[in-house]
Amino acid sequence: MNKLLVDSYGRKSSYMRISVTDRCNLNCTYCAGEGFEFIPHARVLRYEEIFKLMELATDLGVRKIRFTGGEPFVRKGFVEFLIEAAARFSDLELCVTTNGTLIGNCVEKIAFAGIKRINISLDTLNPARFKSITGHDKFDLVLENIDRCLKAGMTVKVNSVAMKNVNDDELADFIGLAGSLPLDMRFIEFMPVGLDTGWTAESIWSAEDIIAQAREFAELSPCEEEGANSGPARMFSIVGGKGRLGVISPHSNHFCSTCNRLRISSDGNLRSCLFSDKVYRLRAMFRNPKVSGRAVEKVFKEALRHKPVGHDLLELMPAVKGVCRTRMASIGG
Ligand code: 5AD
Repeated sequence: MNKLLVDSYGRKSSYMRISVTDRCNLNCTYCAGEGFEFIPHARVLRYEEIFKLMELATDLGVRKIRFTGGEPFVRKGFVEFLIEAAARFSDLELCVTTNGTLIGNCVEKIAFAGIKRINISLDTLNPARFKSITGHDKFDLVLENIDRCLKAGMTVKVNSVAMKNVNDDELADFIGLAGSLPLDMRFIEFMPVGLDTGWTAESIWSAEDIIAQAREFAELSPCEEEGANSGPARMFSIVGGKGRLGVISPHSNHFCSTCNRLRISSDGNLRSCLFSDKVYRLRAMFRNPKVSGRAVEKVFKEALRHKPVGHDLLELMPAVKGVCRTRMASIGG
């Protein structure tokens, strides 16, 4: 590794999130929104192009790559792609974010191949509510698959979008889940990303409230160990329980100063901040044999030069719509 991606504020970008598709087999109310079109297949980065991107990223000091969607496992050949990625990039930490519905047949295979960390999105522990949020009756399947991942020795994080009047009455149950299984249960404050997602300022169930309320149900002790709070989450162990509880609070802006993320959408757009619509188009560059790796590297550096120092989500809001127009499903979280 000879070059490092450092932005204008000294933050090193060592973590890249790659969305492999904007399609999903669920249709969560807060994520996709209404009236959008999927990215046509021809514009989606091919697996070989993603490998090329990963090579470049590795050369630029990226150490961790997370594959996201939409739902990554709806893309044809994704399991084989993951296995090959793990073989080709054994120095990288490879992780995946999924809704957990389609992984039943491949958990052991991908764990064996070296994918040791999986994030599973689950916004409710109530089957009927799961159906009303996602449009599908697949709650039991997700729970079964969480169990499968744990049995396969994976590190499991369950991510729940914290929404007032949607799942704010389920805290005790979520704590019960994290108390009985060795996983990280994390709540992410609902963010106004994309248009028409049903977001309003009243829908924010804040991280502070979540922790204060959680203390009514369990004794929590802030995690101090190395690495526990290095990402955006603040983690707490549940005294007497197997797992941990965490909160991610984008509304408080507290992790922008250490943001090490770059995002690539499935159509090959580089984005240096989740809350900005500014993108750098890489797909055409990958598809043009005359464009060198050096030229792509320059684009990365340019994007880093303009990576925002931070955000104030609510101040960024144009009226009560969304801070960026792009759907979460096409960014991948
Ligand atoms: N606010 C917060 N989290 C969100 N996610 C999707 N949309 C939003 C939003 N508007 C979550 C998904 C998944 C992760 C990738 O991002 O539920 O857990």
